[in-house]
Amino acid sequence: MFGRKLIAGNWKMNGVTASLVEARAVAAALDRQPCPNRVAICPPATLIYPMVQALEGSDVLVGGQNCYVEEAGAFTGEISAEMLIDAGAGMVILGHSERRQLFGDTDESVAAKVRAALRTGLEPIVCVGETLDERKAGQTLDVVGRQIRGSCPPELEGRAFSVAYEPVWAIGTGLTPTLEQIEEVHVAIRALLAETLGDAGEAAPILYGGSVKPSNASEIMAVAEVGGALVGGASLKAEDFLAIIRAAG
Ligand code: PGA
Repeated sequence: MFGRKLIAGNWKMNGVTASLVEARAVAAALDRQPCPNRVAICPPATLIYPMVQALEGSDVLVGGQNCYVEEAGAFTGEISAEMLIDAGAGMVILGHSERRQLFGDTDESVAAKVRAALRTGLEPIVCVGETLDERKAGQTLDVVGRQIRGSCPPELEGRAFSVAYEPVWAIGTGLTPTLEQIEEVHVAIRALLAETLGDAGEAAPILYGGSVKPSNASEIMAVAEVGGALVGGASLKAEDFLAIIRAAG
């Protein structure tokens, strides 16, 4: 089983320099009253470096939301894992459903991005999750299993990483699966990770994501094999994000 949970905020395409005040407030509260888990904020790329500066000396980690597979070159608009490291990021969200649905990420490209992240020492957070149609058709475990096999390359063996189970229909909708549904998928992901990636697969936190908020965080965090949360909307305000962090233990 895993050790510390990871509570990661995914700011998505939200936030300007003025928003750093929220990140500072999270760090200040955790400085006053430390929490036993790991906390990260993944802002838009433009805020990574300023956020690292703003949070210097705190325990809050900063991460990216995507990276390209190449180190450098003629790839207009892309950002490499090396650049994220240079900006001070320690982790990176990969294969988020918004990237899979809107920007063409596939299991194959996500696996390549995971390799790029590992090449630099960035800790990947690999996202998977079924659509509502897939859930209704009883295909959840098949879909998630295929995504895990396709998106988590063997290079993850021996490395620190996380998986985030985010049902697409729960993201930004206020809907969440039942606790039983969350447990079923998390247990299946754990078995698959252990089978394919050995000790690293046993140790990787499996985060739940999708409409996590202060009011539902503690019951979700108590579910078997839930090793943290990937929080979108509720991570934008320090007060809500802190309440979720506290709910995790
Ligand atoms: P949400 O987003 O918490 O706003 O539902 C979660 C995510 O997409 O990571």
